[in-house]
Amino acid sequence: MNSTSATFLHVTDAHIAYAGTALERDDRKTVVAGLQPQTREAALRQVFERLAERLSRERRGLDGVIFSGDAQDRGRQGGHELLLDLLLSFFGPLGITAGRIVATPGNHDVDRTYDPGTAERYKDFCATWRARGCVVPWLDGVDDAGSTAPHSLVGTGNDWAIFPINSSNWCHAAAVLPEPLASVWAQLPHLASGSDTEKEGKLRHQLDALARYDMARISEHQLEQVRRLVDRAPRPEHGRQLRIAVLHHHLRAPSLREEIKAFSDISNLEQVRAFLRDREFDVVIHGHKHEHASQFDHVYDHAGDSARRLLVVSGATFEAGCRLALNRENRASVISDTYVGT
Ligand SMILES: [Fe+2]
Repeated sequence: MNSTSATFLHVTDAHIAYAGTALERDDRKTVVAGLQPQTREAALRQVFERLAERLSRERRGLDGVIFSGDAQDRGRQGGHELLLDLLLSFFGPLGITAGRIVATPGNHDVDRTYDPGTAERYKDFCATWRARGCVVPWLDGVDDAGSTAPHSLVGTGNDWAIFPINSSNWCHAAAVLPEPLASVWAQLPHLASGSDTEKEGKLRHQLDALARYDMARISEHQLEQVRRLVDRAPRPEHGRQLRIAVLHHHLRAPSLREEIKAFSDISNLEQVRAFLRDREFDVVIHGHKHEHASQFDHVYDHAGDSARRLLVVSGATFEAGCRLALNRENRASVISDTYVGT
């Protein structure tokens, strides 16, 4: 790295598990001996291997890895551990240690059986990324009483700084139903199924899904912690610092593709956009939408006289290697996107 450029690998939405997750790529109309369906784990390994080979060949290193959530697939075990091990094994020789990996949880990475703002909700995420020394967000329910975990990654010379932000605290949160609906809701599967236990189980599962919201939201408490972190971050001797925020959810849809569901966007989006403007962020990197896009968002002040320009980078699943360049004013621009096909 020199003083005006840095290279990061952005990985998001791996959706992998110890038990294996099928990669839905082929149109398999028949089963043939010896021709196993590909797994997402194998595809990811291949992508990392090719990318590491290419970087070595070009004698380039990495300044950091940015993981923007959903290592797991529907909460199944193994995703976090598998992904971190792959990152360290392939990119360790290119300069990546756990301390140079910034990781934030996605909606598939939280345990829905525990309420928002509880430590148990982040047990799997913390057992890997946090326990092994990666840079992680300040988490509601985990860090309230003080934290010793690193919450930012600052480049040599302080030219850039990366801050992970958790947007998954309310994901899959249970709706609080009013009485008498709450009591009836709990009894409904049994009342409607008689002695059919299979139907009762299915109904319970379906009613549970109806009364949950996959809500993207960033707590005020966390924003306040990030504000303090930004304010305390060391500054470069000359020029300004490029600030990068990493979160799982999008600020805006990366394409015309519409998502029809409750809370499909961050519910306190305007608060978050104003925060990013006021704290002088330059880049937002996110996942969740499984689509690759780089676009600019302009966040105006209240008078509408001046706008802050944010480069918003949406990472697709298994897409990696977005290179950002700083120009003379230390503003970010995308200089190349590397698509590594499988
Ligand atoms: Fe997601």
